[in-house]
Amino acid sequence: SDRTARFALHPAFSVGEVNPRLFGSFVEHLGRCVYTGVFEPGHPAADEAGLRTDVLGLVRELGVTTLRYPGGNFVSNYRWEDGTGPREERPRRLDLAWRSTETNRFGLGEFMDFAGKAGAEPMLAVNLGTRGVAEALELQEYANHPGGTELSDRRVAHGAKDPYGIRLWCLGNEMDGPWQTGHKTAEEYGRLAAETARAMRQLDPDVELVACGSSNQAMPTFAAWEATVLAECYDLVDHISLHAYYEETGGDRDSFLASAVDMESFIENVVATCDHIGARLKSPKRISLSFDEWNVWYLSRYEAEAQRNPGTWEEAPRLLEDHYSVTDAVVSGSLLIALLRHADRVTVACLAQLVNVIAPILTEPGGPAWRQTTFFPFAQASRYGRGRVLTVTPTGPSHGTARHGEVPLLHATAVLDETTGAVTVFAVNRDLHRPLPLEVTLHGLAVERVAEHSVLADADPEARNTLADPERVAPHPAEGTSLAGGVLRAELEPLSWNVIRLT
Ligand code: AHR
Repeated sequence: SDRTARFALHPAFSVGEVNPRLFGSFVEHLGRCVYTGVFEPGHPAADEAGLRTDVLGLVRELGVTTLRYPGGNFVSNYRWEDGTGPREERPRRLDLAWRSTETNRFGLGEFMDFAGKAGAEPMLAVNLGTRGVAEALELQEYANHPGGTELSDRRVAHGAKDPYGIRLWCLGNEMDGPWQTGHKTAEEYGRLAAETARAMRQLDPDVELVACGSSNQAMPTFAAWEATVLAECYDLVDHISLHAYYEETGGDRDSFLASAVDMESFIENVVATCDHIGARLKSPKRISLSFDEWNVWYLSRYEAEAQRNPGTWEEAPRLLEDHYSVTDAVVSGSLLIALLRHADRVTVACLAQLVNVIAPILTEPGGPAWRQTTFFPFAQASRYGRGRVLTVTPTGPSHGTARHGEVPLLHATAVLDETTGAVTVFAVNRDLHRPLPLEVTLHGLAVERVAEHSVLADADPEARNTLADPERVAPHPAEGTSLAGGVLRAELEPLSWNVIRLT
């Protein structure tokens, strides 16, 4: 039978422009993301500020555009002032979220230095767990006001003469989650988000604000939470957040490979809720989606471990250090495809997290930094996924999955670079065992040749990049891909992530 997956591309049929902020990541004070991850004074590769230049080089190669900071669950019990001023005077504090000791040797100034050197825009979260409007305003004034007030002059005295100009702010983190310090009901949070947003806009009407949506689509309060929160703050915020993590459970790889089905339905459901509230309020404004935490995370392993050992208030313990396989990278690529397919409404997204903690980059204290398998799809998507997302509606084979029902074997999107005319097809073959023939018919696109077909797949789908073998997995060129008579033909390896560039 014909097992070919097919779709057509035409520039008149498109989803929308990709916002570069789709390729953001996340630095939380958690485990070794900050300490011995991005920051390690005394490391042979550390610069004068203690930032690891080997990590900075990889972050730039990864193509991260935006960096969310400082949490995450961490932010809900964080006092931002603790991380400012002379290092030797900074207090040691208990971090309730991860049962660690926070030394505060790294704080806002160090983060801004790191983000600047990485070429990424900062996205700052305020604490709406144990704190409120006043502290959010104080942080905003310290960070963004030019000078002449106690707080802004304090920043200048701390060495930052120019204001940081931080535009993008998160109004707390996962406030729907009972695990969160200062967890709130939707009504309580909606009011607090609205009050905080109003005050922050009084200081600067141009800030962009992200209200907390649900921690994931399976939360019992999902959708009602978004509706209640937005009813309070629709006109005061710009974005609503979404978070989602996926893992393979019970050996059910087919469902795991179809994780993007959940991500896409999550996005579509949140869009529906936003637009429903907007219509009810008769508002012409559209809320955009900030998918500011997404990844593969072996969360159930972490929870089992946390139950056995709830934490010992260590400094920078090894936490959430998932080592990703080729299979995890293919799923990660599929999640990137899901985000691109909704680029009209998802205008911010953050791969959680950046270094060591469920991250594309791993480091050893005093040792090297290297790329995990999941590094590659992100780097390629960030590099070639800029421009206009074209509508992709494939036909072709599908199979049944336990968690997501019948699912197509091909998951794909395509992006047109309007300045060069180049088209990049991103495609995942979810079939574990068989190659998938692909045919793409091109209309009205000025491309002539296949510049590259890069594939991430491996005879061993469990293969990983380790300290001992840090370059075991990398994308390789695919063979036999052709473009003739306006038709692109390729064969996608079993369980693979593909980037096909047409110029
Ligand atoms: O990224 C790890 C954690 O996942 C974050 O701290 C929290 O926001 C989410 O639950």
